Amino acid sequence: MLMVLFKDRFLILICFFLFCLPNMAQEESINQVIERGLNRAESQSLILAKKLENREGVLPRTYENDRLQTVFYDHWVSGFFPGILWLLYENSQNIQFREYAELYTARVEPAKKMKNTHDLGFMLYCSFGQGYRLTKNPHYLNVIKEGSENLLTRWNPKLGVIKSWERKQWQYPVIIDNMMNLEMLCFMTREFSDRTYVKIAETHAQTTLKNHFRTDYSTYHVVSYDTITGIPHTKRTAQGYADYSSWARGQAWGLYGYTMMYRETLNPIYLEQARKIGNFLVSHPRLPEDKVPYWDYDDPQIPNAKRDASAASIMASAFIELSQLDPSNMASIWLATAEKQLRTLSSPEYLAEAGTMGGFIIKHGVGDLRSKNEVDVPLSYGDYYYIEALLRLKKLISKPTGLNERQVWIKQMTRIASPVLENLAAGTLKKNMPFESLSNDSLRRKVSYLEAVGRTICGIAPWLELGPDDTEEGKLRAYYIDLVVKGLRNGLDPESSDYLVFDNHHSQPLVDAAFLAEGVLRAPTQIWKRLDRQTQEWLIKEWKVSRSIKPFESNWLLFASIIEAALLEFTGEYDVKRLNDGVCRFRDEWYKGDAWYGDGKDFHFDYYNSLVIHPMLTGVLRIMKKHGLSGAEFLPIQEKRHSRFAEEMERMISPEGSYPVIGRSITYRFGSFHALADAAFLHLLPKSLNPAQVRCGLTSIIQRQLSQADTFDSAGWLRIGYTGRQIQMSEEYINTGSLYLCMAVFLPLGLSPDDAFWTNPPVEWTARKAWCGANVGADHAIR
Ligand code: GLY
Repeated sequence: MLMVLFKDRFLILICFFLFCLPNMAQEESINQVIERGLNRAESQSLILAKKLENREGVLPRTYENDRLQTVFYDHWVSGFFPGILWLLYENSQNIQFREYAELYTARVEPAKKMKNTHDLGFMLYCSFGQGYRLTKNPHYLNVIKEGSENLLTRWNPKLGVIKSWERKQWQYPVIIDNMMNLEMLCFMTREFSDRTYVKIAETHAQTTLKNHFRTDYSTYHVVSYDTITGIPHTKRTAQGYADYSSWARGQAWGLYGYTMMYRETLNPIYLEQARKIGNFLVSHPRLPEDKVPYWDYDDPQIPNAKRDASAASIMASAFIELSQLDPSNMASIWLATAEKQLRTLSSPEYLAEAGTMGGFIIKHGVGDLRSKNEVDVPLSYGDYYYIEALLRLKKLISKPTGLNERQVWIKQMTRIASPVLENLAAGTLKKNMPFESLSNDSLRRKVSYLEAVGRTICGIAPWLELGPDDTEEGKLRAYYIDLVVKGLRNGLDPESSDYLVFDNHHSQPLVDAAFLAEGVLRAPTQIWKRLDRQTQEWLIKEWKVSRSIKPFESNWLLFASIIEAALLEFTGEYDVKRLNDGVCRFRDEWYKGDAWYGDGKDFHFDYYNSLVIHPMLTGVLRIMKKHGLSGAEFLPIQEKRHSRFAEEMERMISPEGSYPVIGRSITYRFGSFHALADAAFLHLLPKSLNPAQVRCGLTSIIQRQLSQADTFDSAGWLRIGYTGRQIQMSEEYINTGSLYLCMAVFLPLGLSPDDAFWTNPPVEWTARKAWCGANVGADHAIR
């Protein structure tokens, strides 16, 4: 018996080696498929770009009967080739693609004046829209704006739809393809903060949802509305097999359109619609195994009917996006379908051989079989959505793990800190740091340098405290530790050109002596202990000099407290009253409930509970506890409040990675999340919060805020703003130096890379989960 079993197993093993291993070796990884597809797209597109380079105004359409077919700006496909070039430029950063993209994009420009087509979204958004996303060229924005205004001349508020065509047999035809033009309108709202556009897009999407779809969630191609009653007078096809049939590309436009509308608006109705369309498509009995649909799902010639590869490209791109938006277990089906489609499209059957097809990429598309136009040919939109899908999948696969998010944080933190610390260490801070402010207080500039230094060190200190080591990160840390140590010597040496002002000619130095104290307390080994004795003495002297500044009856009391905490920690000597005043007032008089303190006796709806109050109160109390001072028994209560406050802050991160623009000092940008970052760093997050969701939420905010144009000047200094340069959003006390409080968000970098904050897999933050329909549980106040 044993022998038989052994023999059987042996046989199975032999079979495995004979049959499975060669197949396994053949199976390309999806990464390889993506790279191979993109490489082919690059070489083919260069062929095409060169071929038409000198033919003014000409854009590619298809390759039929061994001949390149072209169009001018006014054809609906004019924008796809420029769009392809932009996508390839984005992926490769090869300047040749950018130059060609610019050349071909310019050829589409006259389309902006067209009023006789609904296709302006395809034409302008794939070309100028992609170009604007990647270059922020203001001219491109003007073109999109003009085109969008002209698209809106086709909007009928009474019918609630944008008109597609002018055709005598139909009063007011709208085709499902029109959903694709709505993305440009959503973009307009984002760009110009004008909700008119998105409202029209939403109404069009709602009307289409009501009238275009059948009960099985397949869609008609054309619905024409009676202009008097507003009710559809006919439902037809123009390019499909029959009025009742499911024309493959139309289904794909619908899937893509509703997925995109959900991404743009987060209206759950669109997610539901996209899911239902997706379900109709993936469970369709006539969707082939390889997932490239026949040109029409109802052509009786199936399985001998033509396939439409362009429909597969569009579906693949849409399914990848849907897989990221849909929290249900259908997400994996969307993704698997897209992956299968991309594998098929990248196989020799569909992917053009290098140097063939006139430079097109994907074979076997069907443009319009009814009119025997473009049958079994490559199509520029098939190519465009194939590349978009490959890039979407590529981004998704390389989606950050916690550890490469850490790399992003380090990169952004050091990018912000470098001008301050490098100049301070070189003794050139005062020479090179700009001074931007609405203030007309002539002393402000003098105190702004300590602001930049104190705040930068306050944020970077926990990371420095991990110390130098042999890793890349450890070596980078050694560099910044050195800058801080050298820099502080310069900043504190009365003879140095960068000597910082701590005295009472102005009240501001109290604030920044305090942020510096908070920073040095966060890095006792790597900053304090590395300072030479002279610099330590200078620092102690300056902290004491700041005692001559009387704090206001507000969060300012805590500035005095934290300086005394630092003096206590590093010298053993401190001013009892200044240490205790802040702690006692917040503890006994200014608590308002559910983790919120008043800023003084009054409640202020701003971020000061986070910017100052919780981090400093917790910090001071921890030092008091360490030194056994009375009053420290308040620490557990404060930590409970700090923890609850962190829970509240995490809920403020919106699904798309923004947060409420409220209260004063909003130009501290993500420094407003100081208390949340501090709670994560001190392991004070409540049990309800997975540290990874705090990480992911903060990453999204950091990336979003720093990706705004004009956040930095040409030398890398921060400019005043919230999302970009918005000096009018600042108070008069804000200046270049103050902005460095944004560094406070980076405190969790002080957790080692193997802390759960960095190692836990990505998790959506609360608002994002909730807005995707997930159950995030109830939220409770603390007593
Ligand atoms: N939008 C026209 C087509 O899909 O053929």
